[in-house]
Amino acid sequence: MTKNIETSMKAYVMDRQRLRYIFFGGKGGVGKTVMAGATAIWLAKQGRRVMLASTNPVHSLSGLLGQNVFGKPTAVEGVPNLWAYEIDTKDTIERSKQEIRDKIQWFLKFADISTKADEFVESATMNPAFEESAMFENMVELMLGNEYDVYVFDTAPTANARRLLGMSKVYSLWVNKMLKSREEARSLRELLSFTKKKEADPLMDYLVSFRDRMGKAQTLLTDPSLTAFFFVTLAEALPIAVITRFIGWFHDFGIPVGGVIVNMLIDKSQVNDKSPDFVRNRVDMQTRYMDDVWQKFEGMVRSIVPLYENEVRGTESLKRTADSLFV
Ligand SMILES: Nc1ncnc2c1ncn2[C@@H]1O[C@H](COP(=O)(O)OP(=O)(O)OP(=O)(O)O)[C@@H](O)[C@H]1O
Ligand SMILES: [Mg+2]
Repeated sequence: MTKNIETSMKAYVMDRQRLRYIFFGGKGGVGKTVMAGATAIWLAKQGRRVMLASTNPVHSLSGLLGQNVFGKPTAVEGVPNLWAYEIDTKDTIERSKQEIRDKIQWFLKFADISTKADEFVESATMNPAFEESAMFENMVELMLGNEYDVYVFDTAPTANARRLLGMSKVYSLWVNKMLKSREEARSLRELLSFTKKKEADPLMDYLVSFRDRMGKAQTLLTDPSLTAFFFVTLAEALPIAVITRFIGWFHDFGIPVGGVIVNMLIDKSQVNDKSPDFVRNRVDMQTRYMDDVWQKFEGMVRSIVPLYENEVRGTESLKRTADSLFV
């Protein structure tokens, strides 16, 4: 077991000039948003046009940057080449609901069913996965927009990242199935109708374009030269356990794991016999868990970021974190 960083965050990113989609995962509160912000700032300083985006319903990016970036891509003050965007989940959900309502209404009319679409819409949208799926679609839309050189995503901790990305596979299966039954329904209808003219089928068109978008996303997200998922942890039991599980899942899904970032490690040189017990105990605890980290994530540790005397807020503070993350 080597207790040092083999390939640093900086080396990893520099070696992959085509890297375009960068994600941060990990347990709640470990510093994902901070690392996403620091990475975005560092990349922008390299001259890349960077989009720092969040699908997190909590207004974390605006808070981090000290600037309102909610609802639309916004240039970050004082940082050339950097834009930030907190996606309005509520708005997306409303729009998705409307879209689904239109499609269902069209379908009911097509099938000569006289029921109100609302009931169908409610049952289609009243499930917990709907919000996540709307967020995923948003992310894909941004990714496929191709307006920036690099996209850094601060993924929400609750939005189970694996499910989010694994979803594209499920979508594809589902859409193919839907398409098949739509085809059957359509030929049956054409068979029964006297007029043989082909009718426009907006639902089918939608499903096809949806499947294609998801397929594209899947291709991009599984390409290790384009995509990297970094996992943030603390030198503590639970955050380590959480990312160990994540990394396993990601390997199973063929989603590229960029590596592990250890955050909030107390600088030992600041601690001595006279330091309070509380501090010395924490340092001992972190030292023990660092053994775990080196062992479990062999060759995957990219950076160790110290615990600062203050929270990380504002671009100046993020620049300092970036210097440590990309040392
Ligand atoms: N190295 C550090 N030193 C000091 N404070 C830090 C450090 N890294 C992060 N923080 C602070 O820890 C808190 C949590 O960080 P952050 O919001 O980035 O975590 P998160 O993983 O995104 O949380 P959530 O799961 O809620 O989205 C913030 O107040 C942040 O300023
Ligand atoms: Mg966060």
